[in-house]
Amino acid sequence: MPTLRSATLSPAPAATPSPTAATPSPAAAGTTPSSAAKRRMTARRAADSPDSPHFTSPHKSPLAGTGNFGAPKMLSASPKSSRKRLYGDLVPAERPKWNPRDPAQMQAVKEALHVATTPSCGLVCRDDEQRRVFEFCKACVQQERAGSLYVCGCPGTGKTLSISKVKQSVSRWADEMGMETPDDLSINCTNLGNTSDIFGKVRKKASGKLSPLQQLQRMFSHKESAPRRMLLVVVDEMDYLITRDRAVLHDLFMLTTHQFSRCILIGIANAIDLADRFLPKLESLNCKPLVITFRAYSKDQISNIINHRL
Ligand SMILES: Nc1ncnc2c1ncn2[C@@H]1O[C@H](COP(=O)(O)OP(=O)(O)OP(=O)(O)O)[C@@H](O)[C@H]1O
Ligand SMILES: [Mg+2]
Repeated sequence: MPTLRSATLSPAPAATPSPTAATPSPAAAGTTPSSAAKRRMTARRAADSPDSPHFTSPHKSPLAGTGNFGAPKMLSASPKSSRKRLYGDLVPAERPKWNPRDPAQMQAVKEALHVATTPSCGLVCRDDEQRRVFEFCKACVQQERAGSLYVCGCPGTGKTLSISKVKQSVSRWADEMGMETPDDLSINCTNLGNTSDIFGKVRKKASGKLSPLQQLQRMFSHKESAPRRMLLVVVDEMDYLITRDRAVLHDLFMLTTHQFSRCILIGIANAIDLADRFLPKLESLNCKPLVITFRAYSKDQISNIINHRL
């Protein structure tokens, strides 16, 4: 199944910027004011063009500036536009001819496509998934109710990146709406020494005889102790929390079911069947999370992503 990881180039180049990336080309350095002005105009014209990405909603999208959530037209980048990104806005005469045997050009391509590089073009092909996660969080914040979401998909399908973009969008949206922005917390389970340490990460100020889990349960069960703000918790690499009895997973999701819970829980994992394996129990406990699956990219989607990133 194709994922971006399998399609991109492997060695990690981020620490050593390429000569092309670090040093402006003589052509670029010698840019005349008139050509710079021309480039600015071209950019402005492109932004005003009906082909530039925009939301179809008459309202200003709360997701604006967070990537390409609602921009299907962005997906049809041509190889020509990818070359343009690689060489900035150089006019055609200034652009070096694409040569895959040129080590500097190849290095620039590797850097642009490396999976550790956050794509400057934003996320491509994940508008729908991001929108669904955003809508879920938005509803929770608006109604001041707790909830849980489970995001799954193969490695490299953009789960982590998508959710971090949505998290920013939710804060920005709440801010713009004059609502209290939710507190947010991101936990990567690969950094936990012990699966139950997750509760200590959520309840940072745990003290006294009760365990962090017990404190959280108590806190969310009483009106007086419940926090005022919503708490958006993103638990990444959730597969690491699977124990034989799955108690930690259950306890974690159950935190969203307490009467005064303010917890919006987003779990991210690779295992597609994790939901099937632990959902039946959660369903019987009345805390079934909404499941959003990030499907593997198709050949065309991978091609679009690569085009955009170059
Ligand atoms: N739709 C996309 N557009 C642009 N780049 C992408 C896209 N999807 C993935 N990538 C690239 O792949 C990298 C890996 O993405 P990400 O870490 O979000 O995947 P993941 O699904 O969380 O993988 P894992 O399950 O291994 O944690 C990103 O940093 C980015 O460089
Ligand atoms: Mg990830």
